[in-house]
Amino acid sequence: MRKKVIKAIFPVAGLGTRFLPATKSIPKEIMTLVDRPLIQYAIDEARAAGIKEFIFVTSRGKSALEDYFDDAPELENALRKKGKTDLLDALRSTNMDSGAIAYIRQNRPQGLGHAVWCARRLIGDEPFAVLLPDDVIAAEKSCLQQMVEAYAEVGGNMVAAMEVAPEKASSYGVLDVAEDMGSVVRAKGMVEKPALGTAPSNLAVIGRYILTPKVMQNLSRMKQGAGGEIQLTDAIAEEVDSGQVHGFRFRGQRYDCGSKAGFLQATVAFGLARPDLRDELADFLSQMAALPKAAQ
Ligand code: G1P
Repeated sequence: MRKKVIKAIFPVAGLGTRFLPATKSIPKEIMTLVDRPLIQYAIDEARAAGIKEFIFVTSRGKSALEDYFDDAPELENALRKKGKTDLLDALRSTNMDSGAIAYIRQNRPQGLGHAVWCARRLIGDEPFAVLLPDDVIAAEKSCLQQMVEAYAEVGGNMVAAMEVAPEKASSYGVLDVAEDMGSVVRAKGMVEKPALGTAPSNLAVIGRYILTPKVMQNLSRMKQGAGGEIQLTDAIAEEVDSGQVHGFRFRGQRYDCGSKAGFLQATVAFGLARPDLRDELADFLSQMAALPKAAQ
């Protein structure tokens, strides 16, 4: 029997410089898509996939994140007195049970691989998920849930994957495909941020992973890779020889909320998906689209 994936790591130590000055005083992960912070989307996705233990790898200046997941008794009382039950429900969905959430500090930014490795003692000898909150994925069945189901069949290490334009491949980890079985591919290699024109395929890694504890061990020995950072991709790539690295083509729409354009696109898409906002927003967008570009 394969062990169930019940632990997830959320690397949230990044400085968020692409969103300065906003991120001078608020963590990037607290920035909101419509009315929920980015991190809430990742947490909801993990919960839907059966995750019970949530591990945040944080850094200085991220205390707003810790408060966000705490109970807010004063606020709850005020809403209760006013009979605002829908807001109360929305608020309660952000509370995490005591003991379900842990915060680990990454004391220096040394890359995604290093951030994940910081959680090694809490992971122990179990498979674990990693979710990068910058990648927001709208899907009927959550992306991680789809992966958990595929993992139950094939095991090993699994990374979410998506076809990207060749000129974009150098922004991602890219899979070298050994065998393409449709939604699941077996990898024979993985390269982090390949130089333009050298990517082994156009199948890019998106920020959802199910990993074996072996990858944690690999991270302990990992040297600096692309960009002078310890790369998670490199630690996973060490497992390809055992045939234990799979890419999973998820069904859903991914938004790169690490970029301003992606964040705006996600805001519009999630706004249009909301019955209470859809009509007004759609009217506004069609008015904007009808205007000549110079007038906008
Ligand atoms: C990280 C990973 C990369 C992956 C990407 C997906 O890169 O290192 O392999 O393709 O997330 O969003 P980053 O975007 O943090 O540079």
